[in-house]
Amino acid sequence: MPKLKVLTLVLFTGILVATGAAIAQMTDKSFARGVVSADGAISLPSNFRTDYVMLGAWSVAGDADTGGGVGLHVVYAPRGVVDVYRKTGKFPDGAVLVKELFKGKTETLTTGEATSAADQAGYFVMVKDTKGRFPGNPLWGDGWGWAFFEPGQITNTVTKDYKAECLACHEPVRSTDLIYDYAYPVLKP
Ligand code: HEC
Repeated sequence: MPKLKVLTLVLFTGILVATGAAIAQMTDKSFARGVVSADGAISLPSNFRTDYVMLGAWSVAGDADTGGGVGLHVVYAPRGVVDVYRKTGKFPDGAVLVKELFKGKTETLTTGEATSAADQAGYFVMVKDTKGRFPGNPLWGDGWGWAFFEPGQITNTVTKDYKAECLACHEPVRSTDLIYDYAYPVLKP
């Protein structure tokens, strides 16, 4: 092949590859928008209380996150995620789950001993990633991004490695994509 033709071919292929990469990046910008940055950093969605659907809640006696007191864990996901899950039984790519932790305040009311949400104790966030987008990033793997946030620190996760800090506790529910989904009535069709 003449030199010029080879050069043109090389250039053309280069442009194609670059365009492909740019398009892939553009389409990926919509991946968990506002929650996941281009390099895989995870932050807490600021609107989850008002815009997400509450999936369900847990009351945990002697909770480690609340210094041994009763903890309340309230779990949220965007409405679109709930719609897809109810149809398919699966969390779609980009699905965000938020678990908000509270210290429980227990008192005797007219109903009996009742516990309500008092001080915040932190937030857990998981983001579904079906494409393995961030290989080598220790917050991503097993189909999810994983992060914990202290109250008031919603853009800076304290999580360094999900395998050490999250995974073992979620292994019992591996068959349901590592999520304790049986506790969320909203997800049931
Ligand atoms: C000590 C065990 C333990 C650790 C460590 C742990 N989890 Fe969980 N997680 C659970 C359990 C059990 C539930 C459901 C019951 C509850 O909240 O009490 C849960 C629920 C969740 C939920 C709500 C969705 C679901 O699976 O029901 C999210 C989101 C979550 N965890 C994220 C994380 C992330 C992110 C980490 C690491 C930063 C983490 N968890 C570490 C035990 C753990």
